[in-house]
Amino acid sequence: MGYQEVLELVWNERAFSSDARRWNTIVEGSLPEDSPLLAVLGWRPALNRLDDQAHRRHRQAVTETLNGIDLRRLRSAVRRQAEVLVDGWGMNRTADIVTQYARPLVSYAFRVLIGLPGAEERRVAALLGSIAGGSHDAARAEAELMRTLHRLVAEKREVPGPDLTSWLLAHSAQLTGAEVAHNLAAILFSGGESTIGWISGTMRLLMGDDRLNSAVATGRMTVTDAADRALWDGSPVPNISGRWARNDLTFAGCRVRAGDLLIPCLAAANTDLLIHDSQDIGSRAHLAWGTGSHGCPAKDAARSIAETAVDVLMRRLSLVRPGDCDTAALRWQPSLWSGTPDQLPVAFAPIRPAPNAPAAAPATPTLMGVPEKRQDARAADSSPTPQAWGWWNSMNGW
Ligand code: HEM
Repeated sequence: MGYQEVLELVWNERAFSSDARRWNTIVEGSLPEDSPLLAVLGWRPALNRLDDQAHRRHRQAVTETLNGIDLRRLRSAVRRQAEVLVDGWGMNRTADIVTQYARPLVSYAFRVLIGLPGAEERRVAALLGSIAGGSHDAARAEAELMRTLHRLVAEKREVPGPDLTSWLLAHSAQLTGAEVAHNLAAILFSGGESTIGWISGTMRLLMGDDRLNSAVATGRMTVTDAADRALWDGSPVPNISGRWARNDLTFAGCRVRAGDLLIPCLAAANTDLLIHDSQDIGSRAHLAWGTGSHGCPAKDAARSIAETAVDVLMRRLSLVRPGDCDTAALRWQPSLWSGTPDQLPVAFAPIRPAPNAPAAAPATPTLMGVPEKRQDARAADSSPTPQAWGWWNSMNGW
């Protein structure tokens, strides 16, 4: 698929659905129940797996909840945590930007955003890594993650906090407890790995292009410009997680059966020669955020995290260059869903001390207000049960 085909696939919702219950491979019983694909592509009652009115209901709840994040506070919490991470390895003159910086920083930000206790952060980050990496135990990781999110929703129902979970519960869309848990999963799947990929992609770009690097270092170009440029070069979401044909049809010259899965490749669309000329710095015609009704609803929050992360690195480290591994020879996860290399080793000149010795980031900074406690019974409804693929047995009727 080129740029135009991806646009058609994503925009033509009469022909292509986001609802995995149409998937013929499942209906015909030929996909193993523990397929790692299901962790990301399987149906769930959440915005990314729904169409039409149901999608609008969930989407409105998620979008309005995300809009409640205080971006200034988010930037400041991310900045403080980023400084703490840099202080941890800065004296070594080498570091791995993926494992020692972007991953822990993004997992901290999401932990605070959804209101997860600090003690759960590492375990949840490992589960998300298994799912995004498409590892053989992705289905087990997904089931464990869902148990954790259902528990979190139950806790926030009792005692709301300053977090997305509590606000999703409080939203006038009156999502059930299970729907809130699955929308949290959608937020984590869609936002976590992509933001890690965006931070590492922007650093890879800056290290590979001296002109760009010096333009940012001297203030002739902003980190925002560089980060946008990186979205052309390697989409942090390399492939969108699926559309299913509603009927038999011909698409891009291929015969497609009703229920066939099509995976739009954003990374390829962005390099389509058709739009190559528009890749000027500053142009945002790339498809890295997706497009249409399912396009990313969290650009501002993602920007706040990723740009702050890159800004701290650019300010604190000087003479940053690829470490003991050529950026062209980086190893990538064998996954459709991750645009992040396994590692991004860097070397740099002795670290500049932080202007004021930074205090450790507060364990749980406050990034939004606290909603009123919700009283109705739907909030307590946590079916479908958190067991792995409980919906599987009921596929026959779909
Ligand atoms: C704070 C970080 C982020 C959060 C919370 C987040 C959240 C989400 C959610 C909930 C969706 C599903 C929307 C729907 O189906 O209606 C979505 C979609 C999407 N997001 Fe994000 N996202 C984040 C960061 C990013 C980043 C950094 C990128 C890449 C630059 C990105 C690219 C996308 C794309 C391509 C889609 C569309 C998927 C599709 O059409 O099926 N997101 N995001």
